[in-house]
Amino acid sequence: MGKKITIDTIKSAKGRTPLVMVTAYDALFAKLFSPYVDMILVGDSLNMIFAGKSDTLSATMDQMIYHTKAVCAGARESFIVFDMPYGSYTTKKEALQNAMRVYKETCADAIKLEGGKEKAKLIEHLCKNGVAVMGHIGLLPQHVRGEGGYKIATDKDALIEDAKALEEAGVFAIVLEGTKSEIAKAVSQSVHVPIIGIGAGKEVDGQVLVGSDLLGLFEDFKPKFVKHYLNGAQLMKEAIAQYSKEVRDKTFPTKDHSY
Ligand code: KIV
Repeated sequence: MGKKITIDTIKSAKGRTPLVMVTAYDALFAKLFSPYVDMILVGDSLNMIFAGKSDTLSATMDQMIYHTKAVCAGARESFIVFDMPYGSYTTKKEALQNAMRVYKETCADAIKLEGGKEKAKLIEHLCKNGVAVMGHIGLLPQHVRGEGGYKIATDKDALIEDAKALEEAGVFAIVLEGTKSEIAKAVSQSVHVPIIGIGAGKEVDGQVLVGSDLLGLFEDFKPKFVKHYLNGAQLMKEAIAQYSKEVRDKTFPTKDHSY
């Protein structure tokens, strides 16, 4: 078992070996991923991947807490990031109450929330009250309905302004989602905290992917930035089909599987 990394280790990874983050929503996957990654994100993407909804917006604090507890049980020695669901951080007071709930009820080490400079004061308030905050700028999945779709971020100067405002507010790292590689590079060069990209090219300080995406389990669509490291859906279908066949033709169980 490895030792859990710290905020300082994450900060000092800037410009060095890229940080690896992956999402997990349950103990089984968290335990499998944990030895190979620096951080596990309990992303609100669980609302789509786990709960089958069309976007992340209806994820609740209760739901996120439940899944984070499961991830904690599977990966006690991992640095775990709790993704604040839509509507859980609209005011400083609400954000701090919910962040405190995360710390009191789960083993999460940090929270992540979406938004740029408009969230800087709220993030500063959380940080001053002892909460470790990871920012999330660029394409913001929680804005999908408000913006009428998933919009790639193209305004380099606005992104740099966002990253700088979040750094000044006290975040220890920032997820940068959905932008061109050269823009991501400029954003990364503009701050001292690590930039963790998703769909933002390789000129950043780390990468995050949704676990079920990289395992090829999610078949509905494949965003351009996703690489399948396993043909998971196909392998699972073959396995379950084989099990079905063996039950039906009575070749399973054999003596080896019987008491
Ligand atoms: O919820 C999530 O999985 C995320 C990642 C896409 C960064 O926020």
